[in-house]
This record gives sequence, structure tokens and C-alpha cells, in this order.
Amino acid sequence: MDLMEYQAKELFAKHGVKATLGTVVTTAEEAKAAAEEIGGVTVIKAQVKAGGRGKAGGVKIAKTPDEAQQHAEAILALTIKDLPVNRVLVTPATPPVEEYYFSFLLDRSNRSYLCIASVEGGVEIEEVAKTNPDAVKKIAIDAGTGVDEAKATAIVEEVGFPAELRDQAISMVQQLWTVFVEEDATLVEVNPLARLEGDVLEALDGKVSLDENADFRHEDHAQFEDKDAADPLEAKAKAKGLNYVKLDGSVGIIGNGAGLVMSTLDVVAYAGEAHGGQKPANFLDIGGGASAQVMADGLDVILNDEQVKSVFVNVFGGITSCDAVANGIVSALDILGDEANKPLVVRLDGNNVEEGRRILAEADHPLVVIEQTMDGAADKAAELAAKAGA
Ligand SMILES: Nc1ncnc2c1ncn2[C@@H]1O[C@H](COP(=O)(O)OP(=O)(O)OP(=O)(O)O)[C@@H](O)[C@H]1O
Ligand SMILES: [Mg+2]
Repeated sequence: MDLMEYQAKELFAKHGVKATLGTVVTTAEEAKAAAEEIGGVTVIKAQVKAGGRGKAGGVKIAKTPDEAQQHAEAILALTIKDLPVNRVLVTPATPPVEEYYFSFLLDRSNRSYLCIASVEGGVEIEEVAKTNPDAVKKIAIDAGTGVDEAKATAIVEEVGFPAELRDQAISMVQQLWTVFVEEDATLVEVNPLARLEGDVLEALDGKVSLDENADFRHEDHAQFEDKDAADPLEAKAKAKGLNYVKLDGSVGIIGNGAGLVMSTLDVVAYAGEAHGGQKPANFLDIGGGASAQVMADGLDVILNDEQVKSVFVNVFGGITSCDAVANGIVSALDILGDEANKPLVVRLDGNNVEEGRRILAEADHPLVVIEQTMDGAADKAAELAAKAGA
């Protein structure tokens, strides 16, 4: 999960990284009030999960509260990299004397962590990386020992921070490492890490990506979720504990096991070519215990996707046998009643498949079509989606 700047700064402050929190607002009037409260010159900054906000006109200096209001109005009307700006941060203007770049990230290819930093930071850092790559230092970090004072000192020396800032930089590098480790982040980036007047080092911007796999040990991270931006179907699935990803095709998919569902997506996309380019509408793995309730929850999410014209239920019975799955489908259709209104192509195989097929045949639900093979079922589901006008 990517955080917005003001959220990243909250985590910075929690771990002692010098940053000014400012005030987050959603209207131009509130921005004016916040600027009045702060006093003096302020900066109005778009809060969106995208880089290059400054270049897109999303970061503006305001000399007066009235100007803060005008800038906020303009920024709140912007769309930056397809993301509407719903919030702005109003913060005191503290003009940087110099701008540095600093980050810790997960280095997947080396199965370790990496520090990338440069004393030539600021909005042109991508340009610096291209034209003067030597100015951007990449320092490997041992995942076992992490960043202690000695490592922080080595980083500060290699990056070349000015001597006057050396001690502050060594502390800040360690604090940023604490943010990275203790918050279970995959990225902690500060650009600009600014040298302010009086030789004070401060994080003027922040980007943090949190590892959602570690959410269970960070109850406080739930507050960072951007509920407005979440896809409503994905939000609903998440609330029901389902492993669901919305795609943009017409054939709804339910399967058990991520591998089976992935290959079902491929098979449907392939079969769909013969039916006017039908494509899978989602990824949904209902996992091992395919109970009636889980099946009903899954169908409920998928059938509420307007783009879905047919559904392909592809289950391989294992510990949860096919008869249990078949009973699950029948009860799920009972639970859903009239809400189940699109054809359901079911392919069962594996443990106790004969009994599973018998249960479905006996229930004889008007929407259910039983197919014997995965290819056959994919073709049928694509054909039905095409027929329904997708
Ligand atoms: N509080 C501040 N006071 C003065 N100048 C600021 C302040 N915050 C940012 N700036 C200036 O604005 C520039 C852009 O700000 P910031 O880094 O927050 O946005 P950005 O880099 O354009 O966005 P992104 O990081 O999303 O690409 C900074 O490099 C800095 O020069
Ligand atoms: Mg920045």
C-alpha cells in the first residue's frame, strides 16, 4: 500500500525523523483557514499517490491566506497521472538551500535491501540518474545486520553529505531505517531531504510503501487505506475476506487455489478469442474450504460486477471434495435467490467428482451449465458472455 505524503510524514514523525506535518484539507476555504493559522508563507501540496506533483502544478507557494485559497482551488481541480486531487496539504514554506535524495527499498533481485541516495536531489532526480548516474549512490544493505550507527556513517560518507550536516544525517539515516523496518515498509523515500537555512536537515517530502502482508501486526495501518479510491467491488471482497482482483472482461471467474485461477484466466482469454474477444472479468480464489457461504460471497461480488455476463466456476476437489463444493454452489444459489441472474458454467474435477456432478444435475438449476473439461467450460462461458451481448 502506497501512502500519501502527509501519511508518510506521520510515520516519519513517529520515529523521530524531522518533518513538518502541516494541515490536510479538502476544500479551498479550509486551506485559507489553515494558512491563516500557520501564518507567513505556506506551501500548498496536492496529496495523491503519484510522483511529479510539482511538475504537474500540484505544489505552489502562497504568500497570503487568500493566495493559499486560490492555489488550493486550482490544485483541487487537478488530475495528476489520472488521479483526482481530493486533498491538499498546507504547510509552512521553508525554502531549501540544498535538496538531497534519500531512500531505502527492498531489492528483490538481490534478495536484500538497498539504499539509493544523492546529494543532487529534488524534482530533477530522474534526470540526474540518467545524465550523471555516478552522482546517485547505490549502497547494499545486509538484511541481517541492517543499518546501525557505523553503517549510517558509511552511507553518509559515501553519499557525500556536507560536513556541517554529518551528525544530523547519520541520525536521520538511522531513523529512516527504523521507519523502514518497524513499519514493514518496502520503500521509504525522501525527496527532497532538504538543507534548510541554519543548516537544519528536514524531510520536505515523503513516500512510503507498506507491505500489506505485514498488516496483521500493524493495526494502525488500516487508517492509511484510501477508501475513496478503492474499487467498490474490491472493497466488498476484502471485507468478506476474499482474494479478489477486478479485471475488465466479461467472464466472471471463481476457482480454488491461486494457480488454478491463474490458469483459468489464461484459458478463458484464449477461448474468448473465438467469441469476439471475451476476457476474464476478475481473479477470485476461494481457497481450500469452499463452503456454501464462501461460494455465495464470491458469487455475490462477481454478479454485482456490471461487466460480467457469465460466470465460470472452476474447482478441483481436494480436501474439500467436489460433493461439498456442489452443495456449496446449490446453497449459494439459494442464498442469492433472484440476485443470481447470469449463467454459471461449472467444471468440477478431483475428489468425489461423480457425486458432485450428480448433486448439480439433480438440483437442475436453470442458470447452471455443467461442463466436463476446463477447456470446454471456458469455451462455453465465453460463448454465453458473447451471447449476452458483451
Ligand atoms: N515546505 C516547503 N517549503 C518550501 N519549498 C518546498 C516545500 N515543500 C516542497 N518544496 C519545494 O517543492 C519541490 C517539490 O515538492 P515535493 O518534493 O514535495 O513534490 P514533488 O517532488 O514534485 O512531488 P513528488 O515527490 O510526488 O514527485 C521541492 O523539491 C521543494 O523545492
Ligand atoms: Mg518530491
